[in-house]
Amino acid sequence: MVPKQLEDLQNLLSSHDGKRPIAEDGDAHSSLTKKRRLRSDTFNTPETTPIHKGSKISVISPASVDQKGVKKLNFTEHVQIKKEASHVKVEQQLTVEIPTPPVTPQKDEENKENVVPTSKPQSIYLRAKATFQRSSPVKFSSVLPERNAEANALKNFFMSHIKEGQASSLYVSGPPGTGKTAQLNLTLSEFIDMESTEKLQQVEIDGKDYTLGYSYINCMTVSKTSNIYSEIYTALTGEKVHIKQSRDQLQSFLSSDKAHMSIIILDELDQLLGKQNDEVFTLFSWALNCNIILVGISNALDMVDRLLPRLKMNGLSPNTLVFMPYTADQIARIIKAKIETIEMESHELGFELFHPAAIQLCARKSASNTGDLRKAFDICRCAIELVERETRGLNILKDRGDKQLQSVKIQHIARVINTVFNTNQMSKLRELNLQQKLLVCLLIKAEGANPFQTLTMNAFYEYYIKNGKVDNLVGLLKKAEFLEALSSLEANSVVRVNKSPRAFSESKISSSVVKKDLASVIKGIYILEKLMADSGLLAN
Ligand SMILES: Nc1ncnc2c1ncn2[C@@H]1O[C@H](COP(=O)(O)OP(=O)(O)OP(=O)(O)O)[C@@H](O)[C@H]1O
Ligand SMILES: [Mg+2]
Repeated sequence: MVPKQLEDLQNLLSSHDGKRPIAEDGDAHSSLTKKRRLRSDTFNTPETTPIHKGSKISVISPASVDQKGVKKLNFTEHVQIKKEASHVKVEQQLTVEIPTPPVTPQKDEENKENVVPTSKPQSIYLRAKATFQRSSPVKFSSVLPERNAEANALKNFFMSHIKEGQASSLYVSGPPGTGKTAQLNLTLSEFIDMESTEKLQQVEIDGKDYTLGYSYINCMTVSKTSNIYSEIYTALTGEKVHIKQSRDQLQSFLSSDKAHMSIIILDELDQLLGKQNDEVFTLFSWALNCNIILVGISNALDMVDRLLPRLKMNGLSPNTLVFMPYTADQIARIIKAKIETIEMESHELGFELFHPAAIQLCARKSASNTGDLRKAFDICRCAIELVERETRGLNILKDRGDKQLQSVKIQHIARVINTVFNTNQMSKLRELNLQQKLLVCLLIKAEGANPFQTLTMNAFYEYYIKNGKVDNLVGLLKKAEFLEALSSLEANSVVRVNKSPRAFSESKISSSVVKKDLASVIKGIYILEKLMADSGLLAN
């Protein structure tokens, strides 16, 4: 692979896609004030979508409160609720499309003509690449593949609170690329016209009308945490407000005796977390007595634990919903579902676009890396590019008309993985800050001291407190900061975390760095060299 392509590939695999809500499919009848009609006789997502064992769920039930005070609705409770209310049907099945850059080819007939100016073999690779493009237009009903349980839980949550007019809050967590934003937006788009500029929207549930306000904020775009109130106020009302008055004005807007509920989505909520977490606490506490349905989304699994003491004192515990990382089998099924959209054509041409073993390898490698689906899609796309190039080479040697097509095989996936993951880890290690490098070194040291025992986060924290004070310039992290640093190392695939269902701090942690690479990265960093002098690492 030439250096430029390699660079592009690495950029793709290390960056996240745009964080924005999913737009609803353009519907000929839709207008800005369109009223959504929902009925409660088919509340749940299609029966045909199986609930996979890997889909774990812990959501929301006012009835169930664990010893930490976190309300949880397990799937059985959820099913019971479904029976009682016998249930909500989306009268007209909405199809939602993830927005895509205009250049991305689409699958429908109309676009086919625009996109396929060349021969068929090229077109199929083009379409396959487009399918695996980040933010490619994948059509779903209102449920992502393999997210049936989570979609049901979200729909139940919104539906029940809108109908009861009851304020509530939900905290959605899970590692990157597990479909949190995508599924939430798919679910919401059943209630709300997310493209609409109208500040209030009508939804009809079981023949009854409800008026809803809606605001989606990606907290990454909020420049200062204290600006969050004004951002929400402006999103809900369309009016500007002075930062100093924004908190009070928003509170009085939300608590005034209005006949409507406001749905507030705070995506990437961890961006608002700081030392005091005042704003996040305040917003969640408003879900007690203001007309809001508040949903916070973030990667931090333990955010509720961190905020819980204060929230609990105020009689409030947000509901929680965890998006577990996709298992290798789930990733394989999701990839297959994507391929199905182009499979007809490849079968017509008499070849299989992806060899089953290639899908398996991609799925297994992605699941063991971070479980981020974006990376799995990137690997598929890059492998298609490889095959396309090879095919082009072969076809040049052949007569025109006798085009040859090749499948993506296990070796193509392996080549992409080798190029990307191996090179990436070295550069990822280099990019870590001193504190993070120190944590990785300490983990290697702690593992060396106890080779037969996998460390828990808690045990590693104790080790860190005893051994982490290597220099006056590098302060010791507090427990929450320590856990956060480790989850960011996990996202970078530098450490592996085997999550405990009880608490993030009880999860097992192990290193996943190539020691030789780490030794080379810490070369010249005196305090780390000193720390690792007796570990044998530097002999690597
Ligand atoms: N089950 C799925 N089937 C098909 N595509 C999926 C599925 N889950 C996620 N995706 C796709 O993967 C990409 C990442 O999903 P999404 O942005 O929802 O992840 P996230 O959990 O919000 O990640 P982050 O924590 O980084 O914000 C999106 O393009 C989304 O459409
Ligand atoms: Mg997201």
